Amino acid sequence: MSNIMSASANLLRLQHAVKQQGKRAYHDLVTFPSKKPIISQGPPGYSAVTGHVVTVFGCTGFLGRYLVSKLARQGTQVIIPYRDEDEKRHLKPMGDLGQIVPMEWDLRNESQIAECVRHSDIVFNLVGRDYATKSFDFPSVQVDGAERIAKISAQSGVPRFVHVSHLNASATSPSKLYQTKAEGEERVSAAFKGATIIRPGPLYGYEDKMLNNIAIWPIWWKLNDAKTRTRPVHVMDVAQALANLVHSPQQGRTIALPGPSTLTYEYLLDLVSSLTYHPPSSAPVIPKAVALAVAKAAQAVWWPLLSPDEVVRRYIDDDDTPADWDAVGVTPSEIEQHAIQYIRRYRSAENFSRPNVFPQRPVVSHDVIR
Ligand SMILES: NC(=O)c1ccc[n+]([C@@H]2O[C@H](COP(=O)([O-])OP(=O)(O)OC[C@H]3O[C@@H](n4cnc5c(N)ncnc54)[C@H](OP(=O)(O)O)[C@@H]3O)[C@@H](O)[C@H]2O)c1
Repeated sequence: MSNIMSASANLLRLQHAVKQQGKRAYHDLVTFPSKKPIISQGPPGYSAVTGHVVTVFGCTGFLGRYLVSKLARQGTQVIIPYRDEDEKRHLKPMGDLGQIVPMEWDLRNESQIAECVRHSDIVFNLVGRDYATKSFDFPSVQVDGAERIAKISAQSGVPRFVHVSHLNASATSPSKLYQTKAEGEERVSAAFKGATIIRPGPLYGYEDKMLNNIAIWPIWWKLNDAKTRTRPVHVMDVAQALANLVHSPQQGRTIALPGPSTLTYEYLLDLVSSLTYHPPSSAPVIPKAVALAVAKAAQAVWWPLLSPDEVVRRYIDDDDTPADWDAVGVTPSEIEQHAIQYIRRYRSAENFSRPNVFPQRPVVSHDVIR
């Protein structure tokens, strides 16, 4: 009799907890007192099961692929919303059979978004564009789109929402991208109470638009006399930080994730030139008005070249707010540790295996900010 009473008391407690916390997921079925998910099984790795189901909007992008890989490798089931059939192919083998679930979606289609988040206990929104297109301007992606995903996730009872913004998000920024990122943060926080906002610095890695772009188009990094300050961060560090959030109680915080050092474009130009054995660019510094005119003219073609907002951003120093790496359990690495991995391909055949040469680091006032 007492067993029946304690079982019904447990059931009531469970029902109360469900009411309090909203939707429950597999990983909530835990053993006491260890709190290990009952559903999780196997040694950590590809074939393990964490019991979490996670949706990653923006999974087909640069940061998205590394996040999906890290989640899948922990044994988390990942829903990968995609627009183009070919853009998600590389993600499928990142997890064990059935662990990577592709779903077609459109940012304007509410029922598709609802389908994508239906079974998830965490939703990541990595959707973003650093240039406007004919179909999607900055606000429709960064503000309205982000709000729509957050609102539908809240309505669907998703317990946690992580929104990726930008270190330089600011309502008063001259850049449309940074302005809309700030507005997006506000709308997401209003639509999903307790949403976590992540603000990474400029990312570098294999598919980046920084080291690769400097190697190909150094002239466009000489704007502002190459004096603009930046806090580049390794894409793997940010992906690891996001993956760690799955197991962390962090909620409702804004977490800044810039790189460990503040550097100038001048230093990055020297770094790329030294590592690739290409002589430093002797091109003159282009005046801002000319750069803007060229970027506007480049809008005539349909593929992305330099956009006018990008020109504006090349004159904006990265925000110097302190970093919050401790909150996500990652120690960020310096750009010199990884740069060669990503730009060796720009070396000529005869220089391919030569030693790495690093330029002298200039002293920048707030050099190391952690
Ligand atoms: N890269 C950086 O240096 C950096 C720095 C700070 C913050 N961030 C932020 O981090 C996030 C990820 O950056 P990233 O470098 O990985 O960007 P990315 O490579 O450009 O990828 C963007 C992702 O968003 C999706 N997307 C863009 N517009 C969309 C639309 N209209 N409808 C549906 N999906 C759309 C893309 O899908 P498709 O593949 O279908 O186009 C892609 O999956 C973005 O929010 C970005 O603003 C990036």
